[in-house]
Amino acid sequence: MAAVSDFIDGERLWRRLMQLARFGETTEGGVDRPALSDTEIEARAQLVAWGRNIGLVPYTDSLANLFLRLEAEDPDLPPLLIGSHIDSQPTGGRFDGVYGVLAALEVAEAIRSSGIVAKRAIEVVAWTNEEGSRFAPGMMGSAGYAGLRSVEAIHGLKDANGITAGDAVGRVLASDKDVPRRPLERPALGYLEAHIEQGPILESLGIPVGIVTGIQGKRTFRVAIEGEENHAGTSPRSARKDALVAAIAIVDALQKAIWDKEDIVRFTVGHFTVSPNAPSVVPARVEFSIDLRHPDPDILARLGDLVEPLAKDHAGACDVRVTQLLHDAPLAFSGKMQDLLAQSASSADVPAMRIASGAGHDARHLQAICPTGMLFIPCWKGVSHHPSERIEPTDALAGARVLAQAVEQLVR
Ligand code: GLV
Ligand code: MN
Ligand code: MN
Repeated sequence: MAAVSDFIDGERLWRRLMQLARFGETTEGGVDRPALSDTEIEARAQLVAWGRNIGLVPYTDSLANLFLRLEAEDPDLPPLLIGSHIDSQPTGGRFDGVYGVLAALEVAEAIRSSGIVAKRAIEVVAWTNEEGSRFAPGMMGSAGYAGLRSVEAIHGLKDANGITAGDAVGRVLASDKDVPRRPLERPALGYLEAHIEQGPILESLGIPVGIVTGIQGKRTFRVAIEGEENHAGTSPRSARKDALVAAIAIVDALQKAIWDKEDIVRFTVGHFTVSPNAPSVVPARVEFSIDLRHPDPDILARLGDLVEPLAKDHAGACDVRVTQLLHDAPLAFSGKMQDLLAQSASSADVPAMRIASGAGHDARHLQAICPTGMLFIPCWKGVSHHPSERIEPTDALAGARVLAQAVEQLVR
């Protein structure tokens, strides 16, 4: 009897990847598809159409997570979830997240075509706002699903234009009227997520699949500095409360204190706003983000705890407020899921190795409620969150074949 991985159609998977990349495509060849935007609504409609075409039933919830369900013998058994996200960074690539959703769709289609009788349902899922670039913190759909954040708190988040996530979710739900809404938190047998590595290891070793052991820890902060507007030509330095000068001093002090010579720490100030942002006015307000990551929980705790005191010490005449948005400890995925993925790679005849994740993923949240596993495929030079993000069709196929073998084992 043919294995389910033999029903994976690499060309169909690639075609869908290229089609989905058109929603929000940029002139640089990447994708700009903010969470809960019109572009994402269009991409979502395409997913629903593909799903319906192969007999999957769409559902959504109060966070606009999208599920495409392949029904099975016993509809009352908790389903197996497989998927990722379809929102992108503003200068995102074509594969971050989307690969996991479309590999999952391909697996559902392969299971159907193979004639395997699944005992329990499979749900292909696209989680809402993984990236967190429009509404921070990200991974909000999976956090709500796993009961780690309240729907009220998530709905209250605002984007840069003051639009709440609740209103943005409402627009999405209104646009897919014929997609039934279900309660948010539901039991799941397990969760599997395929993703591009977003790092250089698999490509440099020539190995098509990585079995992810875990995700490093992450803390994020918002720093708000309050100074005072003043005249650029007349106000002496001694009289100024220059929020930008304070911000530069704070970022410099943080860098010096946080960067390590081993180069393991990840420290990023990626979002920075100055106000009023006028050439002849002393800057009165600055707001910036901090994204800090480390695989060791104690080091992450210690470095993160430096942020507020260092900010206060270097704020000069300004006031500074530090808000921590997120503190996620380093996480290990289910050993059983890792072993299952390793066996699946071997039965699909795909070389694989264990690998840790530097990037965050929705799988982090799912691990809180069910056994969870992830697999990576290589990406060109490890480049990601960049328009030139690229993968090889053969690797896309290999990852989907391994995923298919693992899914079959779990739902039979
Ligand atoms: C996910 O996109 C991350 O920033 O880790
Ligand atoms: Mn991603
Ligand atoms: Mn990403």
